Amino acid sequence: MQTILPHGGSLINLMTDRQDKSRLKGLKKAITVDKWTLSDIDCLAMGAFSPLTGFLCEADYHSVVETMRLGDGTIWPLPVTLAVDAREHDNIQIGDRILLRGENGEDYAILQVESRFRPDKGREAIQVFRTDDNVHPGVKKLFDKPELYLGGPVEVLQRPRPERFSDYYLTPHQTREVFRKNGWKTVVGFQTRNPVHRAHEYIQKSALEIVDGLFLNPLMGETKADDVPAEVRMKSYLTLLENYYPMKRVLLAAFPAAMRYAGPREAVFHALVRKNYGCTHFIVGRDHAGVGDYYGTYDAQHIFFEFAPDELGIQLLFFEHSFYCTACQGMATTKTCPHEAGYHMTLSGTKVREMLRNKKTPPPEFTRPEVANILIEGLQNKE
Ligand code: ADX
Repeated sequence: MQTILPHGGSLINLMTDRQDKSRLKGLKKAITVDKWTLSDIDCLAMGAFSPLTGFLCEADYHSVVETMRLGDGTIWPLPVTLAVDAREHDNIQIGDRILLRGENGEDYAILQVESRFRPDKGREAIQVFRTDDNVHPGVKKLFDKPELYLGGPVEVLQRPRPERFSDYYLTPHQTREVFRKNGWKTVVGFQTRNPVHRAHEYIQKSALEIVDGLFLNPLMGETKADDVPAEVRMKSYLTLLENYYPMKRVLLAAFPAAMRYAGPREAVFHALVRKNYGCTHFIVGRDHAGVGDYYGTYDAQHIFFEFAPDELGIQLLFFEHSFYCTACQGMATTKTCPHEAGYHMTLSGTKVREMLRNKKTPPPEFTRPEVANILIEGLQNKE
């Protein structure tokens, strides 16, 4: 069966033989990387970030920031960079091979330094996030990072081991295999950093009416502090699937990356990554990967029109803001419902979190009760 081509044409695999001690010869020094960078290394290792083979070098970095393309013209909307402290690492030279070590003291990868440069972070923020407001969580993260970027190819010695739900950390190679075995010719990818509420369920199931399989691929890497923790979400997805989804037509797998909150650009990134996992279709709803009021409701849909469909290589499914309509007595959007806004049940994320924290279950038209119970329990344990 013909499967969809990964971005750039082939699935990258950066895993190297850890037992081969010769790999470790001539290493200059070790740099300790944070969890965020480690999750990038993991995505690079298994080809989720194909065609990237490491951290962006200066020319590619500028090209990505300015044009959303790598130097060779391939679409790539977000810089994947390794930031280090300039004073601490002033002796790192081009050509050095350095170990990338986790905060737990374990060695994860080797970087062949091909580029060493100081980015203009103000410019990066404006281009990537459309704002340089330090209150934006992605911008803050960018400004908090050290000032020197190292670029070059990476060889990965081992992937980080998730503390829980390790069975769900599938590689793009594995997910493609599942899709193939299931005989799914068309698969829709769904990105989320939230529990699956009724609106999410509605757009997933609307998509599932026209494709063979749903790939529910929640982001499990770093998110902002007030987002629901990944473990609690994972439990809620399992319960929801068990009770309300046709399990033969769904694959749940974790996406280990960190959340950037880069709205439109991150939507393109999310789509390309899901293509690497083997999806033929990708859902973009309202304010995808957005935060606060930084992006217009449909900016993350409009950005896709800047690219030719065959360059993207994955079909986008755009959905309007969805809600429960008390007059229709069902989920709807303004495309399908004629009633006034007063009939539409909408709750802000902040309002829902407040309810859950106060052990109040949101209405079933907003969140399935099984999901709400898990969230209430999870949030109590967190506090
Ligand atoms: S995101 O940061 O991962 O995009 P979230 O988990 O809330 O946040 O959204 C997952 C997907 O569902 C995104 O494509 C988003 O646009 C879409 N979405 C979320 N809520 C709605 C809604 N009420 N109506 C339509 N689409 C929605």
